[in-house]
Amino acid sequence: MVCLGNICRSPLAEGILQHKIDHAGLNWQVDSAGTGSWHVGKKPHKGSIQVAQEHGLDISTQRARQFKADDLNSYDHIFAMDASNYRDIISLASNDIQKAKVKLLLNETYPAQNRGVPDPYWNDDGFEEVYQLIEAACTLILENYQD
Ligand code: 4NP
Repeated sequence: MVCLGNICRSPLAEGILQHKIDHAGLNWQVDSAGTGSWHVGKKPHKGSIQVAQEHGLDISTQRARQFKADDLNSYDHIFAMDASNYRDIISLASNDIQKAKVKLLLNETYPAQNRGVPDPYWNDDGFEEVYQLIEAACTLILENYQD
């Protein structure tokens, strides 16, 4: 799960998907990262921690890290929160196999519409909407990506 800062959207996506994986008893590995380095080592944004808590999830122990090219080898699927994140990840890919792993998260919910998860960093009221968008997409990931 990848966004720009790894403090607002992708930590929520990691927490939500991890919760669903645990509940389903799946042996999947999930992680999140930001394309930028500004917030490396920091906790998620307080708005993300709070909205997660309101939905019964604790994401406060996550720490931001920057996406690295080798993540394109380590993971089978890489979900970008918006088109800018998508482009930044694709620019690190070195072959078509890696490029094919990169998807826009909301294309799970709205196929081929290329919608982005809005960035709540500048909008304190935006976290619940972001939670709902990510939650719906992660429900479909659980349904659609099991072998
Ligand atoms: P995120 O949100 O990509 O969802 O973690 C942002 C966090 C920080 C900044 C922008 C977006 N920033 O400009 O520092």
